[in-house]
Amino acid sequence: ASQAPAADARPSAIVLGHRGACAYAPENTLASIDMARQLGVTWVENDVQRTKDGHLVVIHDATLARTTDARQVYPDRAPWNVSDLTLAQIEKLDAGSWFSSRYAGERVPTLDRYLARVERNRQNLLLEIKEPRRYPGIERQIADTLRRDGWLDQDHVARRLIVQSFSATSLAAFHRLLPQVTTGLLGNPPVSELKRDAAFADQINPDGNRVPPGYFAAVHAVRGPHGRPMRAFAWIVNDPRTAVRLTREGADGIITNKPDVMRKALAAV
Ligand code: G3P
Ligand code: CA
Repeated sequence: ASQAPAADARPSAIVLGHRGACAYAPENTLASIDMARQLGVTWVENDVQRTKDGHLVVIHDATLARTTDARQVYPDRAPWNVSDLTLAQIEKLDAGSWFSSRYAGERVPTLDRYLARVERNRQNLLLEIKEPRRYPGIERQIADTLRRDGWLDQDHVARRLIVQSFSATSLAAFHRLLPQVTTGLLGNPPVSELKRDAAFADQINPDGNRVPPGYFAAVHAVRGPHGRPMRAFAWIVNDPRTAVRLTREGADGIITNKPDVMRKALAAV
């Protein structure tokens, strides 16, 4: 007979694919979340920004220079800010070739298309409000998009959606708009500030390389806006031994570029 779990046993950490599965496919593209699905990854992380004509798109950098062929297509538009080009202009760009010729023709997805693909894949989403100071009002726009695309029903809100940001101001604004949605504050705030952050954040999602001893326990000891103990997802963890150590220390999630490697490493924890 199998041994009963110890009384203090806790479930292993959730594995979240960073920008999809960005070690294996171009980050923040539909191909990247499809790759995550193929690897059996149920949670994907993304980054949301806004075009010149007001469309929400999924991309990490504030410029298109690193992850598209914008330099070649629009040589006179330096520094190729997302906010300086229209959606029609951005949709002409190749967001896959920089990674591998295998992904030539991949596009920067709109948030609408991205949400539809996550839904089709039956995945869950950790959505990051990126660079919010560049995009006044983006919190309301994200809230409206989530509502329109069916991401605010009971199932999505209870189990399938978390919204995070490095900006406490932006996250607090989002929480005021949609208090039912689970939220995460990115960064490693000192323990003395956790109670203040708990007014609007259900999670503290820290840089996994800068977590002091006892930090996860301190986070768990504080209750977030929904009355639940706060949780913590650590990023960006690509080394299996670090993932195991952080999980043993109390991390509730591991955000990683290599979700297949982390799933295998954590299966035994
Ligand atoms: O989800 C955590 C992580 O994405 C934060 O850093 O720069 O990759 O958005 P960054
Ligand atoms: Ca991110």
